[in-house]
Amino acid sequence: MSKLLLRGRVLTFVDEPKSIDDQSAYSYFEDGAVLVENGKVVEAGEYAALALVAGPQAQIVDHRPHLILPGFIDTHLHFPQTQAIASYGAQLLEWLNTYIFVEEQKFSSTAHADFIASRFMDELLRNGTTTAAAYCSVHRTSVDAYFAAAEKRNMLMIGGKVMMDRNAPEALRDTPQTGYDDTKALIAKWHGRGRAHYAISPRFAITSTPEQMDMSRALVREHPECYVQTHLSENKDEIAYATSLYPSAKDYTDIYANYDLLGSKTLLGHCIFLSDREISALAEARSVAVFCPTSNLFLGSGLFDQGRFKELGARTSVATDVGGGTSFSMLETMSEAYKVLHVQGQRLSQFASYYMMTLGNARALDLEDRIGSLRAGADADITILDSRAKPAMELRMRTATTLAEELFILQTMGDDRCVSEVYVAGKPMKSGLDKAAASHGA
Ligand code: GUN
Ligand code: FE
Repeated sequence: MSKLLLRGRVLTFVDEPKSIDDQSAYSYFEDGAVLVENGKVVEAGEYAALALVAGPQAQIVDHRPHLILPGFIDTHLHFPQTQAIASYGAQLLEWLNTYIFVEEQKFSSTAHADFIASRFMDELLRNGTTTAAAYCSVHRTSVDAYFAAAEKRNMLMIGGKVMMDRNAPEALRDTPQTGYDDTKALIAKWHGRGRAHYAISPRFAITSTPEQMDMSRALVREHPECYVQTHLSENKDEIAYATSLYPSAKDYTDIYANYDLLGSKTLLGHCIFLSDREISALAEARSVAVFCPTSNLFLGSGLFDQGRFKELGARTSVATDVGGGTSFSMLETMSEAYKVLHVQGQRLSQFASYYMMTLGNARALDLEDRIGSLRAGADADITILDSRAKPAMELRMRTATTLAEELFILQTMGDDRCVSEVYVAGKPMKSGLDKAAASHGA
């Protein structure tokens, strides 16, 4: 493959910002470029220097005056809930029963699963998200649809079949044995194929019997290379119900600990109402608490206290949680994250937001060698952002004087319209999608 030189204003992180003006956490090149070859970043830096390295044969794509960042990463969402976003009026358990467990039954149809998987991947890309960790439905075929759609686009995606054997409609229940067998078969088929990573996915304590949790433990033991994803402490009624189903557990977190499900590859959605003991248990296990701001507000769940996780040394990441979450956009997600923290007296810095969407989430997935930054050798998953994509943004930007201000405007006012291009392993993807949408009349 030939060399590709992307010219623009390059921003990439090397570490978490320690303070609001910690310039050691990132690299920024005003007249910058990213040199890409064979789907990898060769180097990011000053344009003039990289143009020399690239040589006269390189294809130059001029993205000025736009920003060039690593592709965004979404660490928790549900692909079968794509058409259930904005389901009205219910909190978690009622919302699951009324809307979600109806919607997910549609995924027994492979045609439907294929259609939604394809649209789901395109929607991620349109929003500048190049990697995500998603739950599929209980149906094994939904995982095939998901990874096939990712493979077609060469996206680095994490996913798995949801396991649930109680407290859900019959049509959505597996059994401890079929959940185990299907998961084993899917891991054998998909994990490590191309850029696919499997996540063992017991939905949450309420929908798994102790027998299924035993089987989940077995899967995790047999497949330490896989992720584990589940939900924890999202809603007060949920906590009361979960702990009543596992009366010998000290608390909700202890339910998962008792089945050895807390490890450094475990992603725990929500974690809103945890005690210090529970957060410390997560810190010790190096499990990741996933902050899902649009979902937590939409479902009336509560406010994630990121400051406490930091104090207690626990890892966190950020995610959309579509369809409890209301947007595929990580920019819109960070806009709500800012507000959720602000109302608790915590100030999320402009740079910290962009760290979280990129390198921070890559670290939470232990994938920082491959994604989340533009370091030499990283996969060339890249997002190009236009801070003036909406008229109101263009007006506001006329008064902005610093990069920090621009980033904050982009996060607070921006959405998919601000993603002017997205590259997956060095290949431009968004322009093609926009053309396809125009021809559908979409
Ligand atoms: N807890 C268990 N399942 C779900 C789900 O699908 N979405 C959310 N937000 N929470 C859950
Ligand atoms: Fe979720």
